[in-house]
Amino acid sequence: MTEWLPAAALLVLCASCRNDWRTDMWFEAAVQPQEAPARAEPEHSVRLDARPPIADRDDATDLPNPVAAGGESVRHGALIFQARCACCHGDGGRGDGPVSKLFPQATDLASEPVRRRSDGYLFGTVTFGGRAMPEYADGLTRRDRWDVVNFVRSLQAGSR
Ligand code: HEC
Repeated sequence: MTEWLPAAALLVLCASCRNDWRTDMWFEAAVQPQEAPARAEPEHSVRLDARPPIADRDDATDLPNPVAAGGESVRHGALIFQARCACCHGDGGRGDGPVSKLFPQATDLASEPVRRRSDGYLFGTVTFGGRAMPEYADGLTRRDRWDVVNFVRSLQAGSR
């Protein structure tokens, strides 16, 4: 009869404890999800996917070309040019693609004014489009767009 008394006393003792006896992290003193507002980003921090703030083609004019104009970049740029640009600008970039017969004529990319443009300006044109030219900010990665700029430069060099 009396042998269960200590056990009963222990039970009563535990039940009256203020702190929960469980030790997992849910029950410790902690800020629970959704309880506190999100912490502000530390000052001067930059988001991982941040891009340089270029708003339009003019903003892009001074961007340095980060991709060396080597064979690999030019070859990749040529593939993109064939797929995305030649329909208007023509295979050789002279502005004589089939779409240019029905549409405002695309610029001759080997012409003097385009040769004089900076790499950044060409990048900006591909990124934001022109008056009649579509934009490629979403369709092509930044790397793709610099590769196509390098290809346009090689077109110009080849047509001197
Ligand atoms: C739908 C037809 C079309 C396509 C596709 C197209 N362009 Fe154009 N592009 C034009 C037209 C039209 C112009 C004349 C200027 C304008 O629209 O503002 C032009 C102008 C340009 C210029 C000259 C900008 C200047 O002011 O000196 C460059 C460089 C250029 N395009 C590059 C490209 C490249 C690279 C691609 C492919 C990624 C491409 N274009 C795709 C129609 C096109």
